[in-house]
Amino acid sequence: MLQKTDRTLLRGRVLTFHAAPADETDTGAYTYVEDGAVLISGGMIEACGDYAEVRAQAPEAAVTDHRPHLLMPGFIDTHIHFPQVQVIASWGSQLLDWLNGYTFPAEVEYADPAHAARMAGAFYDQLIAHGTTSAAAFCSVHKCSAEAFFTEARRRDMRMIGGKVMMDRNAPEGLTDTAQTGHDDSLALIEAWHGKGRGLYAITPRFAITSTPAQLEAAGALAARHPECYIQTHLSENRDEIAFTKSLYPEVPDYLGVYERYGLLSDKSLLGHSIHLEPREIEVLAESGAHPVFCPTSNLFLGSGLFDDAGLRARGIANAIATDVGAGTSYSMLQTLNEAYKVLQLQGQKLHPLAAFHWITRGNACVLGLADRIGTLEAGTEADVVVLNPRATEAMALRAEKAQTLSEELFILQIMGDDRAVEEVYVAGRAQKSAMAAEALALV
Ligand code: GUN
Ligand code: ZN
Repeated sequence: MLQKTDRTLLRGRVLTFHAAPADETDTGAYTYVEDGAVLISGGMIEACGDYAEVRAQAPEAAVTDHRPHLLMPGFIDTHIHFPQVQVIASWGSQLLDWLNGYTFPAEVEYADPAHAARMAGAFYDQLIAHGTTSAAAFCSVHKCSAEAFFTEARRRDMRMIGGKVMMDRNAPEGLTDTAQTGHDDSLALIEAWHGKGRGLYAITPRFAITSTPAQLEAAGALAARHPECYIQTHLSENRDEIAFTKSLYPEVPDYLGVYERYGLLSDKSLLGHSIHLEPREIEVLAESGAHPVFCPTSNLFLGSGLFDDAGLRARGIANAIATDVGAGTSYSMLQTLNEAYKVLQLQGQKLHPLAAFHWITRGNACVLGLADRIGTLEAGTEADVVVLNPRATEAMALRAEKAQTLSEELFILQIMGDDRAVEEVYVAGRAQKSAMAAEALALV
């Protein structure tokens, strides 16, 4: 039995979603409480709602008063590359040249466990600073990079999904495994980390170009043996990538046909980018339940193309949204929404702030099949909470003077927000962002 003193209560303006908002008038999709509270015990949310009511349940709980800021579920990033923290903002190329010129050389360094461990610390510091409490991440090909990734997640008690990339061709020396070692290392990592603490494993063939048929077959065998694990890869990001893939796999009908052939498509599959899709591929996505992942800052940065969110949704496909750092240009899911808004504008599509904030919280959690654990502030879920200030900068405060509604305030965060708007971050009930700042001060 928990001691009563273990309970803490966060007070603020509470916003959490129960469903995807059908449109901007869909008030039934969310709960918003002006003077609200989240009661936390043992790393879990015990209650959430009106402050006076929740307080009455826990008169002894220590209160942290975050008013007038917003309390929301921690953000979820469904596609990010842990070994690319020093690749972000690399100039001048599109996908294949960018990989060869910048990314692969940086990832080679993760063969060194000390480097991987140092970068894992830096990576999680960035996630927390930007309000991201869960992510699905690609590690490097080296087993030790995934070990560093999961070790640091465990130390911070974060719900993280990750996997070592499998890649056995079209990459430099020092950055390839083999069909056999890729399989064996992945299996060992699944056994060591999947379901341990809050860690979850993703089988991670990087993309069709860097895997032989033998390796994709091994990845498919792993997925069949471990259907509880995720599968993450890349799909149809760039025209040259697609042409190269088709030359390597001439027998399949299209790019997605490669992953289909090797048993890599299910509702556990996360397919980064999914931009240039053929009609048959869209049908296969809909049938398999696999999830396209929209990476707007990356797609703009590499000049990859415009993601057709509405077109895919109209086919019943559930899309995720993500940063894709280091081709992505910001760790911030708010900045990701900002660029998503613009990408969709270019196609005559709209991203309303209610839909946007649902997407980076409960929406991404639903795609991951984790909405019973993360992505909302519902009682019985894990206490990952972000505290947001829509007036974080002078420019935002000036604009906020004219904001009349919750949606208008959210839109300021969606367009102008970044890590400066993230006042505090709780992971499993513990304040992390202020603790990080205090630690940094102590080091000075
Ligand atoms: N395709 C294969 N690897 C990568 C990567 O690291 N980043 C992006 N954006 N696309 C990829
Ligand atoms: Zn990626």
